[in-house]
Amino acid sequence: MKIALLGNGKTGQYVQSINPSVFVFNSSNQPTLESLAKVDIIISFLPGDIFQSYIPLLIKSKKPVVTGSTGFDWPSDIDKTLKENNLKWIYASNFSVGINIVKTMIETLSKASELFEDYSFSIKEIHHTKKIDAPSGTAISFQKWLDKPVQINSKRTGDIIGEHQLTFSTKEESISINHTAHDRSLFAKGALWASKILVEDSSIPYGLNNFNQIVSKHLNI
Ligand SMILES: NC(=O)c1ccc[n+]([C@@H]2O[C@H](COP(=O)([O-])OP(=O)(O)OC[C@H]3O[C@@H](n4cnc5c(N)ncnc54)[C@H](OP(=O)(O)O)[C@@H]3O)[C@@H](O)[C@H]2O)c1
Repeated sequence: MKIALLGNGKTGQYVQSINPSVFVFNSSNQPTLESLAKVDIIISFLPGDIFQSYIPLLIKSKKPVVTGSTGFDWPSDIDKTLKENNLKWIYASNFSVGINIVKTMIETLSKASELFEDYSFSIKEIHHTKKIDAPSGTAISFQKWLDKPVQINSKRTGDIIGEHQLTFSTKEESISINHTAHDRSLFAKGALWASKILVEDSSIPYGLNNFNQIVSKHLNI
């Protein structure tokens, strides 16, 4: 499988070290229709705004895309456009399979909270100082999965890869769910796994697919 890797920065470089045969694109070697024609699939770890500016090119390339870019808004008609072009894309704000297990824990905690009269939720996320977007895409996913009012507290310090914590509190007790990324290769492995599934599993529907759905289907959770 020939892979185009868009962005070999802090995260994308691990895709390249796990699979050295990827075709690398970055600021000094920007992707074109001609260069993308040579590959079977595209993986993006570009900053969100740059990825967003490449969306028309990626659609024109007619290739499947796996993207981890965060911090931008998808065009409102992206799913429709991909379907009209018979294209299958997978996106994730966090390519860790562990985060997808956390998703089911958050959904359980959300339902369980209804047993309590007086409670609150809070989310804390910590990342390295170079991270452009705040709150993180993962913290926004936590908020969505919880589906209850919750404030997100974001902190940028050092070279922290990614720490997320959801806390449920009542006057008498609290429950916290923590996820810590120890190594950026985690995200690269998840994106490469998604690429393999996207090429091999013909049951993945056309359009914009969330990585969570793909993982849940394969883990049967
Ligand atoms: N979904 C996940 O699991 C996950 C995990 C971690 C990070 N992320 C997201 O991934 C994205 C990248 O993060 P990062 O920390 O790896 O960023 P980074 O270290 O800043 O790397 C960005 C890469 O994009 C390239 N680039 C910048 N402008 C470009 C252009 N106009 N054309 C082509 N390439 C260009 C850079 O090339 P040069 O170095 O040549 O400028 C560099 O290789 C962010 O949105 C981040 O939030 C997602």
